[in-house]
Amino acid sequence: SPFWPGLIEAYRSRLPVSDSTPVVTLREGATPLVPATELSRRTGCDVHLKVEGANPTGSFKDRGMTMAITKAVEEGAQAVICASTGNTSASAAAYAARAGLVCAVLVPQGKIATGKLAQALVHGAKLLQVQGNFDDCLALASKLAIDYPVSLVNSVNQYRIEGQKTASFEIVDVLGDAPDIHCLPVGNAGNITAYWQGYREYCHSHDGAPAPATRTPRMWGFQAAGAAPIVTGAVVEHPTTIATAIRIGNPASWTKALAARDDSGGRIDAVTDRAILAAYRLLARTEAVFVEPASAASVAGLLQVAEAGELEPGQRVVCTVTGNGLKDPEWAISGAPAPVTIPVDAAAAAAELGL
Ligand code: F0G
Repeated sequence: SPFWPGLIEAYRSRLPVSDSTPVVTLREGATPLVPATELSRRTGCDVHLKVEGANPTGSFKDRGMTMAITKAVEEGAQAVICASTGNTSASAAAYAARAGLVCAVLVPQGKIATGKLAQALVHGAKLLQVQGNFDDCLALASKLAIDYPVSLVNSVNQYRIEGQKTASFEIVDVLGDAPDIHCLPVGNAGNITAYWQGYREYCHSHDGAPAPATRTPRMWGFQAAGAAPIVTGAVVEHPTTIATAIRIGNPASWTKALAARDDSGGRIDAVTDRAILAAYRLLARTEAVFVEPASAASVAGLLQVAEAGELEPGQRVVCTVTGNGLKDPEWAISGAPAPVTIPVDAAAAAAELGL
């Protein structure tokens, strides 16, 4: 059908909704799966990018938020709360506005990208900057959700995971089966949990229809080196990375990420900020996909494994790029030469352009 109703309607039978559930949607999902020519050339694999920045608020969070806000409304909530490194707050603010709910967000002071701050504010969220990191914000939000009449919409809310698992469904629906390898950036570890759940569920027949997938991929997660607790096996008290979206030292879904890794025969590795920025520029210049720095961790990780000689050629690989580059344009601008100013003069323009 040329009409996309949003992911809840599209995958209704595999989601916890009934006929009377009041669906809150911005027509999220159905994001492009783009063949990655240069990455395929470099790795000898068949690499695709799942471009989640094409969602309504510019990140994969919309998949989880359409479900979380829908269920909050169904359960009679008046207000929702989240902790965020920026994208969750942008998405929660938008879906809460759509549903007429109050939205409270707690963000680490000075550590979220400008575009994301703008989104939370323009959609009317009550935003508090906390003098702490994301992990402090999540602890605070969880406590407030216990002590006050406000629903938590972080990915510890299972409805978020239910919505986000639909990205795996879409990939299988396009490719005809699961890929061999799926690469993701990992922060709070909700998304790798959701993808793994989605891939597993799609191996089961449902409502009399045959199973859409015959197998599951190996799950490859990548954390920023300065915020890689799952890799080192210890909480990081003061996480640091330029990829602010994944600046997290104590992921809520840590155990589930380990299960996704181990049950799929996968891996979770660290990538440096330098490698993240190199992948960020490569994506923009060669694949023409503009992502935010955290999103490039999946691609940085794939290239790192390939360069270590640990990626067998000929495999089908999907890298999720989680958020739109416009959210955090600072890195695009600071990495490029300053634009030259010219008078209104064709000869001057031609000289500068080397024509
Ligand atoms: N990429 C982006 C762009 C993100 O915003 C996040 C998480 C991740 C990757 C990691 O996903 O947490 O499920 O492992 N952002 C959260 C937020 C923490 O508050 O927006 P995860």
